[in-house]
Amino acid sequence: MMTQKQIWVEEHLSGRQLPSMSNEDPSEMVVRFVKFLKNKKLPLRGQAIDIGAGKGRNAVYLASLGFNVHCVDYVQAVLSTIDNRAKKKGIRHRLQLWCARIDEEWNFASNFFDIAIDCYSSIDIETINGRKKYLSELYRTLKPGGYAMISVVSSDDEIEKELIASHPGREKNSSIWPDTGKFQKNYDEDELREFYMNFEIITIEKIKKPAHKLNRNYQATNFYLVLKKGGENV
Ligand SMILES: C[S@@+](CC[C@H](N)C(=O)[O-])C[C@H]1O[C@@H](n2cnc3c(N)ncnc32)[C@H](O)[C@@H]1O
Repeated sequence: MMTQKQIWVEEHLSGRQLPSMSNEDPSEMVVRFVKFLKNKKLPLRGQAIDIGAGKGRNAVYLASLGFNVHCVDYVQAVLSTIDNRAKKKGIRHRLQLWCARIDEEWNFASNFFDIAIDCYSSIDIETINGRKKYLSELYRTLKPGGYAMISVVSSDDEIEKELIASHPGREKNSSIWPDTGKFQKNYDEDELREFYMNFEIITIEKIKKPAHKLNRNYQATNFYLVLKKGGENV
């Protein structure tokens, strides 16, 4: 049986099941978050973390706006893709690449990041303890007053709802993808509110859109969250 990391190494090479992960345009969730920051009149600079950065569609976008982006992913190959994409755009100096796990201690000081994004990444951590570690590291490293954008797949997403019924994981609302065995944790709103309870939940929205995965066109249902760490904005 392949580990979750091996499944990701293979998926990043082939782009077989989640072709959107190879897009160069940023996720609309991150674009929406940037609009939120602009509306708050917050500067689009400072330290950002892209948690599970993948091929960097979001990290390169944030860096092009002016953020210094720390990309963390456990697949070395995607960091090389980010390296190439950033060089082509002349913004390589605004990206730091870290080949590391997001479900173990993060190699960053406390209160370091102005913003954080987790664009469908922590849903791929295959243990509850791993997700709790991600959560405590997110809280520790975000500055007081800092904002985090989290996007996750809803448990009533068209495909995930089917998989939760036909190929359930051990945890509530989780699935094991057929063919590869990839684990995915999906959420309902109550679970999200409980999991992120240490943060102030600024926004929690369910968003539907046409999408493509697992060789299917379907209606995706995702959650968009903006979280704030309590304390003064610094
Ligand atoms: C669904 S992809 C999202 C990628 C990116 N955030 C985006 O929106 O394009 C999840 C990413 O998280 C990474 N990942 C999953 N679990 C991880 C872990 N435990 N430690 C580090 N990276 C992980 C995978 O390699 C993959 O690049």
